[in-house]
Formats: sequence, C-alpha cells, structure tokens
Amino acid sequence: MVSTGLAGRRVLLGVTGGIAAYKPAELVRRLGEAGAEVRVVMTENAARFVTPLTFQALSGHPVRLSLWDEGAEAAMGHIELARWAQDILVAPASADFLARIAHGLADDLLTTLCLASAAPVYVAPAMNQQMWANPATQANLALLRTRGVGIFGPAAGAQACGDVGSGRLLEPDELVAALAASGQPGLLSGRRVVISAGPTYEDIDPVRFLGNRSSGRMGFAVAAAAAEAGAQVILVAGPVHLPTPAGVQRVDVRSARQMHAAVLAEATAADVYVAAAAVGDFRPLEVAAHKIKKRGDGGMTLELTQNPDILADVAALPQRPLLVGFAAETENVEAYARAKLERKRLDLIAANQVGGGLGFETEDNCLTLISADDITCLPTASKRELARQLIEIVAQRLEQRSAHNRDVAA
Ligand code: C5P
Repeated sequence: MVSTGLAGRRVLLGVTGGIAAYKPAELVRRLGEAGAEVRVVMTENAARFVTPLTFQALSGHPVRLSLWDEGAEAAMGHIELARWAQDILVAPASADFLARIAHGLADDLLTTLCLASAAPVYVAPAMNQQMWANPATQANLALLRTRGVGIFGPAAGAQACGDVGSGRLLEPDELVAALAASGQPGLLSGRRVVISAGPTYEDIDPVRFLGNRSSGRMGFAVAAAAAEAGAQVILVAGPVHLPTPAGVQRVDVRSARQMHAAVLAEATAADVYVAAAAVGDFRPLEVAAHKIKKRGDGGMTLELTQNPDILADVAALPQRPLLVGFAAETENVEAYARAKLERKRLDLIAANQVGGGLGFETEDNCLTLISADDITCLPTASKRELARQLIEIVAQRLEQRSAHNRDVAA
C-alpha cells in the first residue's frame, strides 16, 4: 500500500454515472487508510447506480449531489468545497463527464467544482470500449491532457456489458498509488526512457509471417509506470492490440529490423532502455513477392537468417543508457537469465517463466530481477504492479550510476 504523500491530503472524490460507480466505495476506504480526508460528490446519474448513503458511511461526511441543495450549501458552500480540495479525483469518469469538463461546462455540482477549484484534477475513465475508442472521447482526453488534467487508466479487460477491451476503471489500490505518485516529483523526472514491447512479425510472403505469442502487456505496463514516474517515455511497439498509455510517445513497428532502427534512433539520447519485446531471432532470408503456392505433396524448406540483436547494439553505444533486458524462459530461469545478463552486458535482467499458462498473454506475472551484484524476487502480481516495482529499482540504479559518474568526474 502506497501511503506516502496522501497523509492529511484533502481529496474531493467525484463519482459519475456508470456501472463502475460502486467501485469507489472501496477507494474511499483505501484513501482513508492512506491518511487522506475524503469528501464525496456524486452526479445525479451516479446516484442511480449506488446510493449516496454508502459513500456517506465510508467517508464519514454527507455526500453532495446538487448545486441547489440549500441545507448543504449552508453547511459548506460549493466555492468553499472547491477551496477545501487539495486534489480532485473523479472515478469513475464517464465519457459524458469528460466531454463536459473538456468544454468547460458547469451544469452540475461536480463540473462546477472542477472549474471553480485551483486543485489539480485527475480523472479515471471507465466506459464501454467502443465509447472509449470513439474519436470524440479521445479528442476530449487529448484536450484535458494539454490542460494538465491527470488521466489514470483505463485498464483493458472484460467489461460489464460483455465486451472485452479498454475502458475498465483502475482498481482502488492502483488509483491510490497513481494519486500518491502524482503529487510528488516523479522518481524518473527529467529522464528519458525507451521501451520496446510486443512481438515482431517477420514476413514470409504477402500473407504469412513468423511471429510469437508476446502480448506486449508487460512492456506497455513498464511504459505506463515510467510515465507515471515522470519520465519522457518512447515506446517502440511491435504489432499488439493495446492502447497507448497516457503520456507515452509510441512508435509502431512490425519487424525486428524496424524495431532495431527505431530503438537505435532513440537510444543514444536515452537514460534507460528497457527491452521488453520478444524479438524474433530469425527472419526468412527472402520475402516472396507473391503468395507461396503448394508444390505437389512435398514439404518445403524455409531458409532463415539471424536478426540483429537490438540489446547488444545498444550496449555497444559509446554512451549507453542503463540497460534492462527481459528473459522469458520455460526452464532454468535464473541460470539462463544470468548467462544472458553477462553475454549481453546488461545492467539488469528481469527473468520470468513462460509457458503452461504463465507469462505471455496473461494479466499476472512474477519476475526475478538479477544484476551482477543483486537478486530480487518480485512475487506474482499484476503486470502494472510489477512494472511499478521494476521502475523503482531502475530509478535507484540510475541514481547510483549518476552518483558514481559524479565521483569519477570529481
Ligand atoms: O530472445 P531472448 O530471450 O534472447 O531475449 C533477451 C533479451 O534480449 C530481451 O530483453 C529481448 O528484448 C532482447 N533481444 C534483442 N534483440 C534480439 C533478441 C532479443 O534486443 N534480436
């Protein structure tokens, strides 16, 4: 549980109308445990999903619903409430709410408070994946981002409506951690982090390719965690079906050679390179211009050639960034990872077991972080949580490296 920075904070929690409106009940508790004082404001539609009494009981304060409630205005007027708040967190934030604050509307209590308060506003969107993907919603978010509104999530996964995709509200613990992190100067403020993620596809002919089962989730989670920690993040992504994390600059590639070129173009100016991609080791020697046809009953032989090793080439740069590799193994995880750490001259390797339902294509994972002088085992957790812990360790190592460089220069 992250509590740093939230002790004594006055958090105004806005709840808007959507099926996820029940989730912030737990969030109120977690914020309280982290030491924050919470007041809840609900929209009228939110009150159709969950009763204000629930939030009143959990926050210990009456819940405000309307601008026109004379009794409540007499107790603490909305301007007073706007001044009271040190942070405004709206969770869940519906598509409609995002549209209204993006355009400066103040047609209910919550939007009025957002306009009337000098406190930073954070929104945790939650909606159907189609609504999330709609260009109108994305344009509203882009507008909010330029105005400094913090956007937490959403996560991808199964939705209440039966769809699968992006638009799930982050879990209460994740929201507490994100809010705690936003108030602080980030661990990676001023740092430039390049991350590669996902599989590579190596074309055989215009319709076939060699690929692998990497989902890209781990690398995307690392990118999100690095951005949350204040870094400038460049995410070089192979072909994956994942939304770009907030605040991350994304470069899409397909083959290992494209990934190699994109990473090397960014790596010289980077402080850290995290190689979380499952890069194809081989590609067909030749890509057929037309679809390869069956010839009789015989088999066929595909001649392969080796792809460049991206990590090795970044390691060979004169001013190399801190290098973090991933080792996905089906057996002898630690031994193979150590060998890879040395062979590729890495600073840190994150090793995990894949296959048999572990690693690829899963939400959860478990990582062993190995460096020349240390080994840390991060127990099974969500990829987001593991990514956050990995970023903390990366930040520590960067700090050690900077201190060492200062000593050498002195
Ligand atoms: O595929 P392998 O297990 O050797 O990958 C170990 C690490 O090396 C990973 O971090 C991967 O992203 C990186 N790698 C690379 N270029 C390759 C193959 C792997 O940078 N051609």
